[in-house]
Amino acid sequence: MMLLHPHIQKKVHEEIDRVIGSDRVPTIEDQSKMPYTSAVIHEVQRYGNILPIALLHMTYRNTNIQGFDIPKGTTIIPNLTSVLKDKTIWKKPYQFYPEHFMDSEGNFVKNETFIPFSAGRRICVGEQLARMNLFIFFTSLLQRFEFRIPDDQPSPRHDPVFIFSYYPNPFQVCCSER
Ligand code: HEM
Repeated sequence: MMLLHPHIQKKVHEEIDRVIGSDRVPTIEDQSKMPYTSAVIHEVQRYGNILPIALLHMTYRNTNIQGFDIPKGTTIIPNLTSVLKDKTIWKKPYQFYPEHFMDSEGNFVKNETFIPFSAGRRICVGEQLARMNLFIFFTSLLQRFEFRIPDDQPSPRHDPVFIFSYYPNPFQVCCSER
């Protein structure tokens, strides 16, 4: 995403430089002071939609959801894409648009329909660990490097490969130390 949207990468660099600088490593305490970077990471997860059908489940009793009878023993396939790309919720569902997670004053805003870790009792147990690592890894890499498409290479493809989860198509990247 940072290769495909260099102007967004530039704004992340600016926020890192302003809040963290280059003399120390990022910590999780920085997150609350970095609304733009937080919005970018959330948008990577929303747009990237890496586990579109979560994990399969089975009803353990007869149930009814919004008038639909679902008998005990039915296999349930959650469709996270239908929420993460819902055009009634997101302004630009099929575009990479960090402003989905910002208000007009540049504050970070949560959205209850942001569910890349699924929802309910069987929500991902690694959510907090994953979110912390996404912030630390992303800011640490962007603090030290600028990422760009090598001069002789094509732009990475926007469409992913699907093998139960979504992966990026192979691409080459040039990392320059900042
Ligand atoms: C960005 C990273 C991650 C994403 C997007 C993600 C997403 C998900 C999703 C969508 C599910 C399915 C929930 C459901 O069944 O409805 C899940 C389940 C699970 N995840 Fe993650 N996950 C991530 C990282 C992790 C990490 C770091 C761990 C462990 C340290 C972890 C452990 C688990 C486990 C154990 C389950 C099964 C939970 C259960 O069935 O009760 N995940 N995850």
